[in-house]
Amino acid sequence: MAQCQGLAPFFVAFMLSYLHRYHAGNFADVHKHLLLSRVLCALNRKPAPYCVIDTHAGEGVYDLRAEEAVKGGEAADGVARFLGLGDVPLLAQEYRAALGEGSYPGSPALARRLMRDVDRLVAVELHPATYETLRATMRGDARVHFHRRDAMEALVALVPPVEKRGVAVIDPAYEVKDEYRSVPAAVAKAHARWRGGVYFIWYPLLPEMRHEMLLESLEDAGFAEVVVSEWHRRAPDSGRGLYGSGVAVVNPPFRFADEAAELGAWLETAGFGGTHLLRRFGR
Ligand SMILES: C[S@@+](CC[C@H](N)C(=O)[O-])C[C@H]1O[C@@H](n2cnc3c(N)ncnc32)[C@H](O)[C@@H]1O
Repeated sequence: MAQCQGLAPFFVAFMLSYLHRYHAGNFADVHKHLLLSRVLCALNRKPAPYCVIDTHAGEGVYDLRAEEAVKGGEAADGVARFLGLGDVPLLAQEYRAALGEGSYPGSPALARRLMRDVDRLVAVELHPATYETLRATMRGDARVHFHRRDAMEALVALVPPVEKRGVAVIDPAYEVKDEYRSVPAAVAKAHARWRGGVYFIWYPLLPEMRHEMLLESLEDAGFAEVVVSEWHRRAPDSGRGLYGSGVAVVNPPFRFADEAAELGAWLETAGFGGTHLLRRFGR
């Protein structure tokens, strides 16, 4: 297991104030995890093993009845609404099945649920207490490896994985404004070392529109193909806070764009509302 070099745990905890347990199960999680499930299902189509590198793993598993989750109440307009829907489309069934297993799965638990015995998950988390919870909730599975270290440093250092196939899931809290620049820069560096990897990046849609910097940098990096899925729940100028959720996938699997379009259209009409936008760019 790699260690977080040079930074005292209390200092790291002070720098990182975001705790996903206050937001777990919100509409952005539904969007992100639905699309992540499609990437994992695509990787499962070939028998060769793959690796999932989750650079911002969080706690792994969440109790949506815990005080922190109940306080924000964000799951009501997210996963609780999703679970309350009648039929879900075929493309959402693996995600739905993963939710039906008790505690609510964050991205590493979702990956662990959908990957096969031959595949591997590398879960990276920097926050000391979050890291300890992650290890405790995900222990006992030899396919899962843990690193307490900085995400951007790990992303570049850990690629290419021995499997040569797989996905890097990059899901910062964007507490540090520089992340809108450092994420695409780290993805470009990792891509130079691992050209065949899929890079799955989540970003928030906030009225400050800083995500535009991230998308411009991805566009300037000259990747062969990038698919962008944005779910706008309301107008950007209609209030403070998150107005939508964005996912950009570099080197998307075959059919990913069509699947994202189909799921996005379904989310618009299924009782959530909002507008789904799909965009592609590349060389
Ligand atoms: C949005 S949450 C992750 C949620 C998780 N991916 C999921 O979908 O269930 C972001 C996580 O990144 C962690 N984090 C923030 N900065 C980091 C860094 N520089 N390196 C590694 N982890 C970091 C936070 O402690 C937090 O747990």
